[in-house]
Amino acid sequence: MSASGLELRTATEDDWPLMRRLDATSFGHVVDPSALATWRTMIPGDAALVVADGPDVVAQALFLDFQLTVPGGAILPVAGISWVSVAPTHRRRGLLRSMFTELHDRIGAAGYPIAALTASEGGIYGRFGYGPATVAVEWSVDRRTVRFRADAPDPAGVRIVTPRDHVDELAAVYDRWRRDTPGGLVRPKALWDDLLADRDDDRAGGSPLFAFLHADGYVLYRTHGAGPRHVRVVELTAATRDAHVALWRALCGLDLMERIEIATHPADPLPYLLTDARQVRTTAAADDLWLRLMDIPAALQARTYGGDLSTVLEVDDAFRADGGRFALQIRDGRAVCTPTDAAPEVFLDLDVLGALYLGGHRATAFAAANRLRGNDFELIHRIDRAFAADVPAELGFPF
Ligand SMILES: CC(C)(COP(=O)(O)OP(=O)(O)OC[C@H]1O[C@@H](n2cnc3c(N)ncnc32)[C@H](O)[C@@H]1OP(=O)(O)O)[C@@H](O)C(=O)NCCC(=O)NCCS
Repeated sequence: MSASGLELRTATEDDWPLMRRLDATSFGHVVDPSALATWRTMIPGDAALVVADGPDVVAQALFLDFQLTVPGGAILPVAGISWVSVAPTHRRRGLLRSMFTELHDRIGAAGYPIAALTASEGGIYGRFGYGPATVAVEWSVDRRTVRFRADAPDPAGVRIVTPRDHVDELAAVYDRWRRDTPGGLVRPKALWDDLLADRDDDRAGGSPLFAFLHADGYVLYRTHGAGPRHVRVVELTAATRDAHVALWRALCGLDLMERIEIATHPADPLPYLLTDARQVRTTAAADDLWLRLMDIPAALQARTYGGDLSTVLEVDDAFRADGGRFALQIRDGRAVCTPTDAAPEVFLDLDVLGALYLGGHRATAFAAANRLRGNDFELIHRIDRAFAADVPAELGFPF
């Protein structure tokens, strides 16, 4: 039963046409039936919830079964929440909160140490213990004036290919990249086929997919616009530095394209390769992957760390009882985290721990905002150093 007395239950086969319509109503985009069938293969049996009002589905939420790379390369099972919708006729009466309570009970019971999502708005999910763990920056590169520095590598080795003919090579490169990258997700073959199906309504008014392939990287892109056209990168994945620069040189060789637009992570080295870094203009920056630690000891012990630390954390989880007081001992990159009664030195909410977890945000910044509290400034700097990741965090793919 949901907060407003409506029926909250596991979705049945008969619900899916109504769920597809509610999703389309909420997001303004009708999901293709074969795309839906593909994504449904990743939903565990009891992981889709609906709220019914008589014959109508008025709210829904589900989770996908994912595998997430964390700093140091461990791969954890993660519940990826998606398809969250409440009908515009039923909003702000607690249906999201009812669904999230039940969904997280199921996620906890299934033993996932972490839950994840991407957010339509930034103000919704902090109250449920989710923190923004990766940042995506939108860049616009003025291709006509861009020049590579004389000392920038020029490794070549890029071929123009038809993406569908090279799905195995694309998937192999992606798999190498995601194993090394905090935030990387396993992408099953079915999701590759879905991406490369390249349906008209996935093109946002752009061209079919173009692709450049390198032994250690690839870029998938579309062209957009009438008159001077521009490139919108769908995905640029480089497992080596050489592949990154080789692919960017190929993109910048597209003489008739005015600019190149891409979403990447803030530590992408492209600006350092250019004679004038201002040719890379940041047009937006926002949260990307949000994490909620469901099992704090399991999650903290799975990743590696950049410095030693010995402290007691008091983590507040206002949504469920997954917080508490934990002794955290980090030596030689590995953590031991155990519940304790010792006096806490650092106080923070669970969403802040989620934001720190992949190394995408700094403890000192949260301390400056009074969201990570403690009297010992040196200790907070040690938390910064410990939680920093060698490889910048980036979300594998949107879901
Ligand atoms: C966002 C959405 C799911 C909220 O559903 P809802 O049933 O109205 O939410 P609830 O009434 O259960 O509210 C739960 C809490 O979230 C808050 N909240 C809800 N929507 C919010 C929003 N857009 N921004 C900030 N806070 C929001 C509520 O104030 C409430 O806070 P409280 O419980 O701490 O007092 C719903 O408006 C929706 O479906 N929107 C369109 C699709 C969408 O954006 N889905 C999310 C995809 S990531």
